[in-house]
Amino acid sequence: MGNFEYNKLSLTSKNEAETQRYGEILGSLLKKGSIVALDGQLGAGKTYFSKGIAKGAGVKDSRVVTSPTFTLINEYIGNVSVFHMDAYRITSVDEMYELGCDEIFSCGAITIIEWAERVKECLPANILNIYISYITISERLIRIFDSANLYREVLQGIRDRPR
Ligand SMILES: Nc1ncnc2c1ncn2[C@@H]1O[C@H](COP(=O)(O)OP(=O)(O)OP(=O)(O)O)[C@@H](O)[C@H]1O
Ligand SMILES: [Mg+2]
Repeated sequence: MGNFEYNKLSLTSKNEAETQRYGEILGSLLKKGSIVALDGQLGAGKTYFSKGIAKGAGVKDSRVVTSPTFTLINEYIGNVSVFHMDAYRITSVDEMYELGCDEIFSCGAITIIEWAERVKECLPANILNIYISYITISERLIRIFDSANLYREVLQGIRDRPR
């Protein structure tokens, strides 16, 4: 396979349930300390995908997984703690540090950051990037990019998963 790239993976989703299901597959494969940087336009499906990650990480009631647009950060208890941040309203790097991002990133939890691009200066190297974009009103392209090459097994686990 000539230009097959091991650190990239694309998925197409037909509806929000499928987006959530892909998140769930990812969440079930993530190890403690994983950091998922989610980007994509308003309404792309970042929160649906996050719900799935939380479910896959063992958060029993995914109804508790709601957009932290105003609270900036939510914590859920699964097999490990899951921190869910939303940087949409974060206007400065200082605000991110005041929220305790460094402690969160290094505490062995799983962290999800919506609108991660806005706070990229504050993110460590061990992030897994996910970009969600519109194909049509109900279809999405979900691109996963393991820039640091630290999530190889996770990407392989997604490829191996029957759909
Ligand atoms: N394939 C799909 N995957 C995910 N959401 C979809 C899909 N098709 C349609 N939708 C709709 O798009 C919206 C996605 O909402 P969601 O809150 O997950 O987006 P978001 O990226 O988190 O937005 P925000 O930028 O406001 O945080 C929902 O209204 C959902 O019903
Ligand atoms: Mg959202």
